Amino acid sequence: MDTSRIILIGFMGSGKTTLGKKLANKLAYEFIDTDSLIESFYGKTIPEIFATEGETKFREWEQLIVSELESRENCIISVGGGLPCYEGNMDRLLALGKVIYLQRSPKELFHRLINKKNERPLLKDKTEHELLDHITNLLEKRKEYYERAHIIADREHQTPAKLIQLIAAP
Ligand code: S3P
Repeated sequence: MDTSRIILIGFMGSGKTTLGKKLANKLAYEFIDTDSLIESFYGKTIPEIFATEGETKFREWEQLIVSELESRENCIISVGGGLPCYEGNMDRLLALGKVIYLQRSPKELFHRLINKKNERPLLKDKTEHELLDHITNLLEKRKEYYERAHIIADREHQTPAKLIQLIAAP
């Protein structure tokens, strides 16, 4: 198993970026975030891309970014929440390195996202009342992709030290 690329997947708000940065620090790996790569390649923020180009275009750009990841090594890659669930991307991620799913319940995600939903085009129009149902339904659709990860890390394992143990396990 190739551990020169460690790929963190999971729903919006699952902590991929925060944990990914800590893990990169510990392992002296580069930290890469697919949303930031898209923003710098195309010179627009994610909300701007959704507003001006639409979600379909954003998903095409996500696919192109997976090809860019193939040229990177010794890195922790935090992947946008929807990326694994479109157009064969999950197969490509699984071939690229060790994929870890940061699993969280809809309720936990709701509490983590309630004050940050405006940064996320797919959530910003939901009222607080609609948000939990929306998260529950979207996670239900996406989990068949997420659960194909090499490692499923539940809440207790979502620390750099615990993840390193999981990665090292045969
Ligand atoms: C999305 C998740 C976001 C970002 C975009 C769409 C999704 O990334 O890619 O807003 O479809 O779940 P984060 O998971 O980093 O919030």
